[in-house]
Amino acid sequence: MQVYKGVIERYREYLPVTDKTPIITLLEGNTPLIRFYNIEKMIGENVEVYGKYEGLNPTGSFKDRGMTLAISKALEKGVKATICASTGNTSASAAAYSMRAGLKSYVIIPNGYIALGKLSQALIHGAKVIAVEGNFDVALEMVKKICENYPIELVNSLNFFRIEGQKTGAFEIVDVLGDAPDFHCIPVGNAGNITAYWKGYKEYKEKGKAKKLPKMLGFQAAGAAPIVLGKPIETPETIATAIRIGNPASWKQAVLARDESGGVIDTVTDEEIIQAYKLLAEEEGIFVEPASAASVAGLIKYARKKYFPEDKKIKIVCILTGHGLKDPDRAIKSVEFKPAVVAPDFNEIIKIIKQ
Ligand code: F0G
Repeated sequence: MQVYKGVIERYREYLPVTDKTPIITLLEGNTPLIRFYNIEKMIGENVEVYGKYEGLNPTGSFKDRGMTLAISKALEKGVKATICASTGNTSASAAAYSMRAGLKSYVIIPNGYIALGKLSQALIHGAKVIAVEGNFDVALEMVKKICENYPIELVNSLNFFRIEGQKTGAFEIVDVLGDAPDFHCIPVGNAGNITAYWKGYKEYKEKGKAKKLPKMLGFQAAGAAPIVLGKPIETPETIATAIRIGNPASWKQAVLARDESGGVIDTVTDEEIIQAYKLLAEEEGIFVEPASAASVAGLIKYARKKYFPEDKKIKIVCILTGHGLKDPDRAIKSVEFKPAVVAPDFNEIIKIIKQ
């Protein structure tokens, strides 16, 4: 049996590393591609739907794929500290990988708008967490300014190595399916991930590993949809705090991925996000954070519009970017039934079971 060594070792020939690069890994990647038999029934008989469960990465989100490379390269370069702006997941990942590499980690987050699980991760790893009174876009501007003035490595997806590492998600999908899917549904926030997947699919096709390319279907939350509206949004709002972004760093690349692939970038409302979030949990047994459910909300919206061809077999992959445990508050707010508190009495409990 071959021992799994993380995304850098698995896809070394496609990544900008040398024998001199110290590899910092938590054995990220290799996440399951899970078939959604119940959701398929809502979409059409000719459709296979898969979810790539990126919440099963070591820090609970897809960020680890890019962070393993960004931190390895930062260490190779000889910096002593990293910094990022984050809606939560990047900071959790940056903190974990930076500590493993012996680097200091600074993270700037929008005050009051990051899910509890994510905040707890950055704190327990020992990052210095600074909460700014402003949104993610403001935090990212601060981080860029700091990096212009201090020798601290920026590990947001503006860092080339982040995108390089994240493209391995596309490689894994093709390796499992034997080819690229027909459609690729993905949430869009700062737009690094859609950029990375498109790059990965294109590279694998050039190398002859895939015969086709998917259409990229990106979904922004309706209250935070600058790409769809064609202009930055000063006060983005959505319950999906991970993608509460008004001026994405990889805006141009996301538009390119959409246009080159013949896909779309569209909105999903918070209501549609929560419906998909609950559907995944209740019908497929998959717990994701709200932002992740945007990909499935988009899939359902487009199926209702009859966007997908009905005259041939097609495969659709949805990226489930982060684990549901990141945001337990949202889960509890989203359900009708709360635990019933009773005395430890057999009859009392049976009464509730029978209700
Ligand atoms: N889903 C989750 C769970 C995320 O955390 C993010 C981004 C996205 C989707 C969107 O990906 O930015 O590459 O378009 N989170 C960043 C962060 C912004 O700081 O953790 P994107």
